[in-house]
Amino acid sequence: MSVDTIQDLFEHGLEDIYHAEHELLDALDELESNTEREEIAEAFAEHREETQGHIDRLEAVFDMFGEPPEKEECEGIEGLIEEYEEFASMNPSQEVLDYHNMAAAEKTEHYEIAAYGNLIPLADQIGMGEAADLLEENLREEQSALDELKELTETYEMDAIPAE
Ligand SMILES: [Fe+2]
Ligand SMILES: [Fe+2]
Repeated sequence: MSVDTIQDLFEHGLEDIYHAEHELLDALDELESNTEREEIAEAFAEHREETQGHIDRLEAVFDMFGEPPEKEECEGIEGLIEEYEEFASMNPSQEVLDYHNMAAAEKTEHYEIAAYGNLIPLADQIGMGEAADLLEENLREEQSALDELKELTETYEMDAIPAE
């Protein structure tokens, strides 16, 4: 595939985030079941549902192009997931794991926010205003998921974790 035009750039980014969202669907499932504190586990479950909606909107964007949805391997998100798995396999205490789960999820939200933030002006540039609107809706939900996770990490009671 040649990537010389704004449309190529856009399509490449779209396929990348489409793959990422699928990976995150499974990752959020795992985060939910690996988390003991209920409000944190619930945040993962809620965002997993939103993530399914992100995939649906991306499919609508592919449809606007008259193209079937395709995935381009998203090594960025795969790397974050791998990093997460490695930490989880080190047998952390449940309290430490709960905290780390939020931190790991925050990193993925930053990735998604950057991806959507880059795609929206490209969509506008090629006259795909409706696609840009759908991507904007995804971006807003990523941003509010990040805000919620930040709030949860900031208010996390660390009493159960020894300082050193
Ligand atoms: Fe998403
Ligand atoms: Fe997300």
